[in-house]
Amino acid sequence: MSTKRILIISYSFSSQIRNLLNGLVDGLEKSGVEVFWEQLNPVVELRFPIGTINATLIMMMQTFLRKRYPVHPVNQRCFAQWDFIILAGPTWSYNPSGPVLSLLDRDGKALFAGKTVLPFISCRGYWRVHYYGLKGLLKRCGAIVAAPIVFSHPTPEPWRTIGVFLKLAGKVPEAGSSWFRRFYPKYGHSRLQVEDCRKIGFELGKNIMEGNPLDRPLFPFPVRSEGMDES
Ligand SMILES: Cc1cc2nc3c(=O)[nH]c(=O)nc-3n(C[C@H](O)[C@H](O)[C@H](O)COP(=O)(O)O)c2cc1C
Repeated sequence: MSTKRILIISYSFSSQIRNLLNGLVDGLEKSGVEVFWEQLNPVVELRFPIGTINATLIMMMQTFLRKRYPVHPVNQRCFAQWDFIILAGPTWSYNPSGPVLSLLDRDGKALFAGKTVLPFISCRGYWRVHYYGLKGLLKRCGAIVAAPIVFSHPTPEPWRTIGVFLKLAGKVPEAGSSWFRRFYPKYGHSRLQVEDCRKIGFELGKNIMEGNPLDRPLFPFPVRSEGMDES
């Protein structure tokens, strides 16, 4: 079996995608595929946390309107021939994140036309509009869209919505001895989910190596980690 080459292009604002992809890349490489990982770099640096409630509300409104966040040029290697591409990023106000939208505007056709692209999504809990929107944009670039991999934060509602908002606004809701901490012990994904990502990476890599069709989901989406309440 000849080695398959996989390109991952990602954007991560608060390190959640990056943590998951560390696991995924590990699993992929163990399956025998070759991986090149390109991380998008916004031209104007975006700092996490946003810092204030007002600035968070403004960013949410702007991203709801699909504001673009221009990114630096990607490595020339991204435009080479790849057997499979993973495009990874967070959900921002029901949409793909601004840096990913900006990349699609500028390089979408050159990068993705004729390639099989798998959307990889990290979100607090609501990913559907993001996924269907991104699928449409990728198809317009000429991509063949594989079934997505979606991870949502494992903390139950309403705590994760409140927790994510507070975290973005610069508070630390999971710290100290506040009553809120009992319901919201951690921002973002769990260690178990990163572990799951490693297994998913291995399984995905094996299927790519074997040349299996990937238009049907190999994994349920969102991915359900054992013992966790995820919707
Ligand atoms: C401006 C903004 C808007 C967001 N909107 C949503 C949303 O509509 N739905 C959702 O489930 N998560 C939303 N989130 C949460 C992120 O998708 C989630 O925290 C994700 O895990 C972040 O991944 P990252 O750290 O790799 O950027 C939003 C985050 C930001 C910064």
